[in-house]
Amino acid sequence: MTDHKRSDRLQTNNPPRMSGARRLAWGAAFGILLFGAGYLINETGAFSFSLTSETGATTQIGDAVYTRESMAADRKANYQDRTKPAPSTPVGADGYYSPPSEALIPDSAYGDSVKRGRAIFMETSTRVSDHVGNTLACVNCHLDAGRRENSAPMWAAYVRYPAYRSKTKSISTLEDRIMGCFTYSMNAQASPSGEPPPAGSDVYRDLMTYFYWMSDGAPTGEKMPGSGYPKLEKTEDGYDVMRGQKVYADNCMLCHGADGQGARDPESGTVFPPLWGPNSYNWGAGMARIDTAAGFIKANMPLGKPFSLTDQEAWDVAAYIDSFERPKDPRQTGTIEEARVEFHSGEESFYGKEVNGKILGAGFDSK
Ligand code: HEC
Ligand code: HEC
Repeated sequence: MTDHKRSDRLQTNNPPRMSGARRLAWGAAFGILLFGAGYLINETGAFSFSLTSETGATTQIGDAVYTRESMAADRKANYQDRTKPAPSTPVGADGYYSPPSEALIPDSAYGDSVKRGRAIFMETSTRVSDHVGNTLACVNCHLDAGRRENSAPMWAAYVRYPAYRSKTKSISTLEDRIMGCFTYSMNAQASPSGEPPPAGSDVYRDLMTYFYWMSDGAPTGEKMPGSGYPKLEKTEDGYDVMRGQKVYADNCMLCHGADGQGARDPESGTVFPPLWGPNSYNWGAGMARIDTAAGFIKANMPLGKPFSLTDQEAWDVAAYIDSFERPKDPRQTGTIEEARVEFHSGEESFYGKEVNGKILGAGFDSK
């Protein structure tokens, strides 16, 4: 570099300009750093435990906190003397239900089932490989092992079933509801068995035991704060795939990849899950609906930065990821158009609609 150039730089007070190659190297290093940070957050569940100590006690920050220890004490006192205050629901400083610490899973036959259920939840495609047709796990959409509020947490689900569901036009038990996530979110059709675990399977038994354990103290018959995903109001500008592409490039691509296929580790499996394509959720899944995906994304993505996107950005990026082809809706027996009318009318979805000159919904030829 000549002196002349150096003085130029000093005069204009500009930061040194990097060569193309150096910029690329920095970009890569920064990418790896963020990748690692995201991975750590994911692995340690840093967020779910920030308010909970080893014993499951909740840190006293606000007045609203009601700990599991208080609940246990109130239970005992009230059982012995009915005039004493009834036990209440344990809540943390954030006002949401606080599930028990995982260190408290008992050492017993019951605890073993809880642990098996948790393992299935975390490593679904390897633990239940006969019935999973993609590379996802329950925890990919129900964060922090199903404990995170606004991420359709399992403690809120456990106390809401059996319930009528308009999707099936019948009463669903919790087992039926889990079967639904195997059918659509885990695309069981493409699995070796071609179907979800059969009714009564130990897979459901262990999962439900895990959810039951997590829900100790949660009330039945009411919708708990933080249940499901938040419902986002529609915005004035609607949603737009092109705008979403930019949101994606700026906020998501680093982890989920330019091609949306995420990243896999040959040993540990999925690190960043795919968002579309043959290894993703199918066209019948809740996440294939733009409104549902927008609510999930708003509250949970980018990972580690909940509620950082505007509603508009969440709608647009949801439209973007749900504008790609994904596995077929297993309910489709006739044409795509028939299935669109029967199962997708009135919903915010690109199923059976034309995007970039192609009608979506055809799925992929069997792998
Ligand atoms: C691709 C994302 C995805 C995956 C993977 C997934 N689910 Fe879900 N799950 C959803 C969506 C979307 C909903 C509906 C949430 C809503 O509408 O608020 C849901 C809802 C549920 C509910 C009902 C929650 C409630 O409050 O009513 C249960 C229970 C459930 N899932 C269990 C599971 C289990 C168990 C697995 C693994 C076998 C799984 N899910 C895998 C996306 C997923
Ligand atoms: C720091 C890395 C990171 C960033 C950035 C990120 N994600 Fe994710 N995303 C993840 C991980 C990891 C999971 C699975 C969560 C788990 O298993 O705990 C996930 C899960 C998801 C899921 C549900 C699972 C699936 O594959 O369908 C969707 C949808 C999603 N992300 C969309 C987005 C969108 C949209 C953005 C940008 C606004 C984004 N993510 C940004 C890491 C990231």
